[in-house]
Amino acid sequence: MSNKQKQMLAVWGSPGAGKTVTAVKLAAELAKRKKNVVLVFTDLTAPPLPAVAAEGKLPEVSVGELLSAPGMTQEQVLKTCVPCEKHPYISFLGYKAGENVFTYAEYSKEKAVDMLVLLRHIADYVIVDCTSVLTGNVLATAALEVADDVLRVCGCDLKAISYFASYLPLIEDRKFKPEQHIRVLSNTRPYPGGMEYENSFGGVKYRLPYLPIVEEQAATLKLLEPLAGKEAKSYEPVITAIAAEVFGDGK
Ligand SMILES: Nc1ncnc2c1ncn2[C@@H]1O[C@H](COP(=O)(O)OP(=O)(O)O)[C@@H](O)[C@H]1O
Ligand SMILES: [Mg+2]
Repeated sequence: MSNKQKQMLAVWGSPGAGKTVTAVKLAAELAKRKKNVVLVFTDLTAPPLPAVAAEGKLPEVSVGELLSAPGMTQEQVLKTCVPCEKHPYISFLGYKAGENVFTYAEYSKEKAVDMLVLLRHIADYVIVDCTSVLTGNVLATAALEVADDVLRVCGCDLKAISYFASYLPLIEDRKFKPEQHIRVLSNTRPYPGGMEYENSFGGVKYRLPYLPIVEEQAATLKLLEPLAGKEAKSYEPVITAIAAEVFGDGK
C-alpha cells in the first residue's frame, strides 16, 4: 500500500503520554489540507470531546448509540459525527459527557470494524484516539487492528516503561503488527538520560517535546489552534512529519 492510500491512523500508547493531544494536533494538521478529518475518541472513562472542542452546546449524539444499535448505515455514522464549530474540515465521533461503561450494551468487534469501514467511505482521513487499556474497549482494539498505521506514543516517564512491559505482551498477536508501530517519544524534557527512555522503548522515530504552551492549550480548550512563538518550531514540524509519513504529503 503506498503512502497516498493510507487513510486511518490509530494513536495508542502509555497512560497520560499525550495520545489525545497528539491525535488532536494531527487532526488539525490534516485539516490544513482542506480535506475532511474525522477524529474518533474511544475513551469512555473520561470522554475527551468536552475537553477538546469548545462547542456552544454539547453533542446529542454518541458513538455508543451507533455501536449498540442493531444495524449501521453510512447515514447513521454521518449523523453521529459532530462537526467542529471552528474548524470546518474536522468532525468528532465520540462519547458524550457523563456517559460511562455501563451506558450502552456491549457490542461486537465486527460492529466496531463495520463502523471504521464506513468511516473510510465518509472521511478523507480518520484518526482514532485509543485508550491505553484496551481490555473492555472493543473500538480501540479494533482500530489498533484495522488502522493503516499505529502511532505508539511513549511517555517520558517510568510509568510508561512499566506500562509497555505489561501491555505489549497482550498485543503480540500478528493481527496487531506491533513491530510496525511508529514510535514517538512524547513529553520529552531536557533531562539527561532521555536516550535511556528511547532505548527502553526499542528506539523511537519521533520526539515531541514537553511544552508549557501545549499544556496550556490542553487546559484552555485551545488544542486545535496553532502554536505561537518560537517554541512551535520544536513541535509542529514533528506533527507535520508524522502526518507526511502516514498520509503522504497530501498533494
Ligand atoms: N507535548 C506536550 N507538552 C506539554 N504538555 C503535554 C504534552 N502532551 C501532553 N501534555 C499534557 O499531558 C496531559 C495528558 O495528555 P493526553 O493527551 O490527555 O494524554 P493521554 O491521552 O495519553 O492520556 C494533557 O492534558 C497536557 O496537559
Ligand atoms: Mg486520552
